Amino acid sequence: MELEPCLELLLTRRSVRKFRDVPVPDDLVRRILDVARYAPSAKNRQPWRFFVVRDRSLIRILSSIHRWAKPLERAPLCLVVVCDRREAPISYQLDGANATIYIMLAAHALGLGSVWIQTLRDIPKIQRILHLEEEIPVSMIALGWPAESPSPPPRKELKDLLVEVDG
Ligand SMILES: Cc1cc2nc3c(=O)[nH]c(=O)nc-3n(C[C@H](O)[C@H](O)[C@H](O)COP(=O)(O)O)c2cc1C
Repeated sequence: MELEPCLELLLTRRSVRKFRDVPVPDDLVRRILDVARYAPSAKNRQPWRFFVVRDRSLIRILSSIHRWAKPLERAPLCLVVVCDRREAPISYQLDGANATIYIMLAAHALGLGSVWIQTLRDIPKIQRILHLEEEIPVSMIALGWPAESPSPPPRKELKDLLVEVDG
């Protein structure tokens, strides 16, 4: 495995909020979700399921859930990572977040763009829309072929983040 290209992949992923009006082939979606299965989870419980929403009217409803969900409006596809709290009561949100970032990095590796859409303030609404009972929607991901290449938003300096801990 070449290490530098892997770091390059991590550094070049951006949140993409504008998409071309071109469908994403099913086999690519399956490859991405296949990678997501390998995300780490506490005790390897893998409490997640991956919903694939292609229906335009459903995507439109999800895009109006809150004002930051707008990128979904033009996305050909919405993925929803849902986790079962009963399977991993302490860590389900962290486990779902790990699967989400695996999805976003796999999408980037395949030339697709994505953005994480927050769900945690609107759990009951999303549960109703997707007919979920116990499962919690941990994230939604707008996915598609990028129609923009945003510059990286500013990052805190490493020197301000680094804490050397002496014994
Ligand atoms: C937990 C979480 C929730 C987010 N929610 C939204 C959202 O609702 N809408 C949106 O447009 N971007 C959302 N983002 C994307 C962030 O705004 C974005 O990751 C951040 O600005 C850094 O930009 P980058 O992803 O291009 O590095 C979310 C990201 C995370 C990790």
